[in-house]
Amino acid sequence: MSENECRYTPPMSAHVLSGKPVADQLLEALKPQVEVLNPKLVIVQVGADPASTSYITQKFKSCDRVGMRHEHRHLETDTSFDQLSSLIDDLNRDSDVSGFIVQLPLPSHLEPHTPQLIRAVDPRKDIDGFGAYNLGKMFLSVEFEHLPPATPSGVIELLNFYSIPIEGKHAVIVGRSNIVGKPLAVMLLNRGATVTVCHSKTKNLSHFTRQADILCSAVGHPKLITKEMVKPRAVVIDIGVNRMDGNLVGDVDFESIKEIASAITPVPGGVGPMTVASLIRNCVRAKERQLEDQK
Ligand code: GUN
Repeated sequence: MSENECRYTPPMSAHVLSGKPVADQLLEALKPQVEVLNPKLVIVQVGADPASTSYITQKFKSCDRVGMRHEHRHLETDTSFDQLSSLIDDLNRDSDVSGFIVQLPLPSHLEPHTPQLIRAVDPRKDIDGFGAYNLGKMFLSVEFEHLPPATPSGVIELLNFYSIPIEGKHAVIVGRSNIVGKPLAVMLLNRGATVTVCHSKTKNLSHFTRQADILCSAVGHPKLITKEMVKPRAVVIDIGVNRMDGNLVGDVDFESIKEIASAITPVPGGVGPMTVASLIRNCVRAKERQLEDQK
């Protein structure tokens, strides 16, 4: 080949950011603390939503791996608001319960009461990090984060594990939920990223996504993010969870985007295992703080 000839170089495929080794490392590091502190995690489930049942199974599997005590409080679909509130009160008062979550979504008759029910959870036991107290601490600074929301916290752990810099980068988040999009924006901002949050009312979404060094999607819309919406060499974090024909898929068109991104999370096996590991870490932290407060 002469010097002037152009050599075809195949596109470099993205680094696939598996959450498994990250979650494994996090869980392994928690084992000695679990042995000493002996925390207990409770999950409240109302009804039998199959996706919720599957998430709960994964959470309890990880509890077993680290030797953490756990209990499933499974209530009938027609449980009333008062009955659920009363269970939350009991769990708040039970000194043997270190942390608990109410698995969402709730059945349709309880769904509108979700904010009120989240508010009823004692902030010291709010291991989902969904309540105003824990969100407020996370909002203030990295140092004040104590029980941060599990999914955004898992994303940060994932980026750290793979040595992906955050400071000075432009992070674009698609989705503005209280449990993922908004807290993730603040956590990235507090770590020095410039953050743009896009949502269902954003006009010309791709104008923003194409600027992202780190693009995170948490919408719940399969293949929302296509190759044309991604800047070459961007890091793409897929937080979407969608069921299609019995399979779990994210928000991102993984196959085409992996050809141009520098790194990308798979679904399943990316952010999902990180959410579970962060929840268990929060339960250990909750118990640790409860013991300190007793001193
Ligand atoms: N449903 C789906 N993910 C979650 C979660 O992280 N916490 C709760 N409570 N419900 C969920």
